[in-house]
Amino acid sequence: ALERTLSIIKPDAMEKNTAGAIVARLEQEGFTVKAMKRIHLTRAEAEGFYAEHQGRGFFDELVTFMSRSPILVMALEREDAVAKYREVIGATDPAKAAAGTIRKLYGANVGENAVHGSDKPATAAREIAYFFAGYEVAPSATA
Ligand code: CMP
Repeated sequence: ALERTLSIIKPDAMEKNTAGAIVARLEQEGFTVKAMKRIHLTRAEAEGFYAEHQGRGFFDELVTFMSRSPILVMALEREDAVAKYREVIGATDPAKAAAGTIRKLYGANVGENAVHGSDKPATAAREIAYFFAGYEVAPSATA
């Protein structure tokens, strides 16, 4: 089915000026950008976004990294978007990601791994709503 997923280009990829190459790759893979903005998260905003990871050993490192410099946040649409996006970005750890995937190409390590993607459709809806007001996201598949 036609789905949306939340994509974040993380601080490491933004700092290296690889955001354009990553967006171009996603467009080539059939994703349509339905919403997009560059923002610099506060620590509290990063903690809110990653609330499900609170208590994990890497939580502090994760929110420190995600609030280090600006990110590019997008709502992407495609047939089977969540699964297809995860395929294109590759495994969380760039060292374990398949050749040609975005994390293999642009990620540095398991923390600084270039991009985020929603893990399932229900999460995608929540994550898109976390970053975008209703008027900022195209409301239908054709808009
Ligand atoms: P992301 O898809 O943004 O969702 C949670 C993030 O936690 C994940 O990408 C990783 O970048 C990060 N993460 C997972 N495991 C570790 C780890 N062991 N050390 C640092 N960061 C991690």
